[in-house]
Amino acid sequence: MTKNDILSTKDLVHEELKKANDLKTIQNIRIKYLGKKGILTDKLKALGSIDKKDRPEYGRVLNETKNHIETLIKKQEDSFKSSELDHALKTGHLDATVPGYFTPSGQLHPTTRVLDEVISVFLSLGFSIEEGPEVESDHYNFEALNFPKDHPARDMQDTFYVTDDIVLRTHTSPMQIRVMEKHKPPLKVIVPGKVYRCDADVSHTPMFQQLEGFMVDEHISMSDLKGVLEVFIHTVFGQKIPVRFRPSFFPFTEPSAEVDIGCVICNGSGCNVCKNSGWLEVLGAGMINPKVFEIVGYDPDAYTGFAFGMGIERITMLKYGIDDIRLFFENDKRFLEQF
Ligand code: PHE
Repeated sequence: MTKNDILSTKDLVHEELKKANDLKTIQNIRIKYLGKKGILTDKLKALGSIDKKDRPEYGRVLNETKNHIETLIKKQEDSFKSSELDHALKTGHLDATVPGYFTPSGQLHPTTRVLDEVISVFLSLGFSIEEGPEVESDHYNFEALNFPKDHPARDMQDTFYVTDDIVLRTHTSPMQIRVMEKHKPPLKVIVPGKVYRCDADVSHTPMFQQLEGFMVDEHISMSDLKGVLEVFIHTVFGQKIPVRFRPSFFPFTEPSAEVDIGCVICNGSGCNVCKNSGWLEVLGAGMINPKVFEIVGYDPDAYTGFAFGMGIERITMLKYGIDDIRLFFENDKRFLEQF
């Protein structure tokens, strides 16, 4: 191979392109010179056998020639393409009314959208986000939250046990303990995350998502809890929705409450979704039990706090009037595309 050899390929390509009068021919020229076994490609491969001192110069000439040829071919190709298009448009061989190709785009899962919305409400109220382990010790999941040894939630029916004292967390509440052990008040924290319970029917799945929230400082009262939760509920379900706090029990809060909203299906007049009560339960909440403060080493006389926990799938179902939780896991596009 001589330098002239290489340079003359430019002229060869030039000549061939002159004669070409359709796109296919141009594509064949590209293959003939630049393809895997193309004339110029072969020359590039042969570079190794050139004398070492001449190699850089040959390399330079080869690359220059290659770029030159590429530009020549591309130029001709583009001009053909646009003239073919012109021609097709003029002669009516191109039907510009044929619908184009539709590339479907994905979207966020409904529970992800609702989770994002819920998180943004609490961020706007000054809460910060923490996350914790899904495989949790019995101590954090139950013991430190004041669950008595024989509490039904510890039953094999509900809890997935990894070993005798390691469980898949059944709620996000263990993060109250973990965060309080690490930080001193004031605290204003939310904890989104997956939780696990051995349960499956139209409103329960073995894995679901919760969002825990808690606030600890001097002089935190039940009215702070009500204020925060009302802002949350009114933002997510609309300003007009009625909210009520109903007495309840959790070992780690005292007093405890269940929070209900007016039934989104019948507006409170009574239907089978709200079992004729006019109300739907949205979450559990309460004032953090002083016993919990003692366990994490906070002075229960100095601090008070509230906590709440909600199921994200449940909030999503209530917000959109979905009656079967399993729809979230079936990945049926006809369902998912409605949000
Ligand atoms: N952890 C409770 C549950 O899963 C909910 C809850 C959280 C209740 C915080 C009160 C305070 O049912």
